[in-house]
Amino acid sequence: ADSLRHKAEARGLVYGCAVKSRNLRDDAQFRAAVANEAGILVPEYELKRQFIQPEPNRYDFAAVDFILQSAARDDQKARGHTLAWYDANPAWLPNALNDSTTAAAKAKLLTEYIAFVTKRYAGRMHSWDVVNEAVEPDNGRSDGMRSQSIWYEALGEDYIPLAFHAAKQADPHALLFLNDFGVEAPIRWNDRRRKALLNLLDRLKSKDVPVEAFGIQGHLHPYRDGFDAKVFARFIHDLEGYGIKLMITELDVSDRGGPDDPQKRDADVAAVTKDFLNVALESHQTLGVLTWGLTDRYTWLSTSDKYKWPDGQLPRALPLDGILARKPMWDAISNAFDLA
Ligand code: G3I
Repeated sequence: ADSLRHKAEARGLVYGCAVKSRNLRDDAQFRAAVANEAGILVPEYELKRQFIQPEPNRYDFAAVDFILQSAARDDQKARGHTLAWYDANPAWLPNALNDSTTAAAKAKLLTEYIAFVTKRYAGRMHSWDVVNEAVEPDNGRSDGMRSQSIWYEALGEDYIPLAFHAAKQADPHALLFLNDFGVEAPIRWNDRRRKALLNLLDRLKSKDVPVEAFGIQGHLHPYRDGFDAKVFARFIHDLEGYGIKLMITELDVSDRGGPDDPQKRDADVAAVTKDFLNVALESHQTLGVLTWGLTDRYTWLSTSDKYKWPDGQLPRALPLDGILARKPMWDAISNAFDLA
C-alpha cells in the first residue's frame, strides 16, 4: 500500500523521521521500512556537539555521514539537529567557555563550530535546527529565556543571532529553524512557553536575525496535557504572522497514563494525531512532518524514566509498532496528508 512519504509528496509536503545510525546499520527490516516510509531523515543524536566534537580538536562525522549516505541512496532529504543547544555538549566545552576571557572568544567557540559543521554539509541539508529549546519560562525570568544554558551564560541572548548568522553564512541554502517543544497543549506551562517564544521571535525579527522557520517538536502527552485544536491553531496563526515556514519536527505521542487496553491507547493516539496534524497542516506555511522515530521498537520514550512503562512494555507512540506493522497512528498521519 502507499507510504507516508508518497502521501506527503502528493500534497507538496514532506514526511520523515529521526533515525539512529546503529539501527539503520544493524536492522535490515528497519532500514527497509525507513526507505519506504520516509522522505527526509534527521540524526536522532549523532549530530549533537557531544558526538561531533568529543575533544576540542577531534571531530567525528562518521555516524552522520552514514545516515546522509543512506538518505542519498534512498533519494531522501536530510535535516541537521542541532547546532546550539543547552544539552548534549561535550564535557570540555563549559570549561573552555569559562576560560575564555572575552565575549569575542566565547562567541568563537559557538560560531566557528557552526561554520565548520554547517559548511561541511552545505548543499546537502534541507534545513538545520540552529537553536534548540531556547526558552524556559519556569526559570522565573520575565522574558522566559532558558538562562541555564552554557550559551546563555556565556553570551546572553546574543548567542541566538550569532548562531543564525554563522549558519546562514556557511550554508545559504539550508532553511534555518528555531526549534522548541511544549507549545501544543492547552495548559498553563505551554501558554508560558508559547508567549516566551513569540516574544523571542519579535526580538529576533526586529534585529533581522535570519530565523526562516519554526520547528514545533510535537512530543504530545494527551493523557497528561490534553489537546485543544483552537488553542494550537491560535499559536500556528501567531507563528504565520512572522512569515516563516513551519514544520512538525519530532512528533511522537506518549501513551503513558492511558487505559490498560493497548488497542484503546492506539485509538486515542491516532485521534490526537489526527486533530493535531489537521491544525498543523492547515497552514500553507507548514512544510511537513517528522516523527521522532518510525517504530515503537526504537522510541526514545523507552529510555525515559518519565515516559517508559514500568512493566517494560513498549510505548505505543509512533506510526509503526514493535514489529514494524502499521498502527492506527499511521492511518491518522496518512489521512492528515490526504486532507492537507
Ligand atoms: O550510544 C551512545 C553510547 O555509545 C555512549 O557510550 C553513551 C555515552 O553517553 O551515549 C550513547 O548515546 C545516547 C544516545 O541517546 C543514543 O542512545 C546518549 O547517551 C543519550 O544522551 C542520547 O539521548 C538522546 C537525547 O535527545 C539527548 O541527546 C535521545 O536519543 C534523543 O531521542 C533525544 O532527542 C531529543 C531532541 O534532541 C530534542 N527534543 C527532545 C528529544 C527527546 O528528548
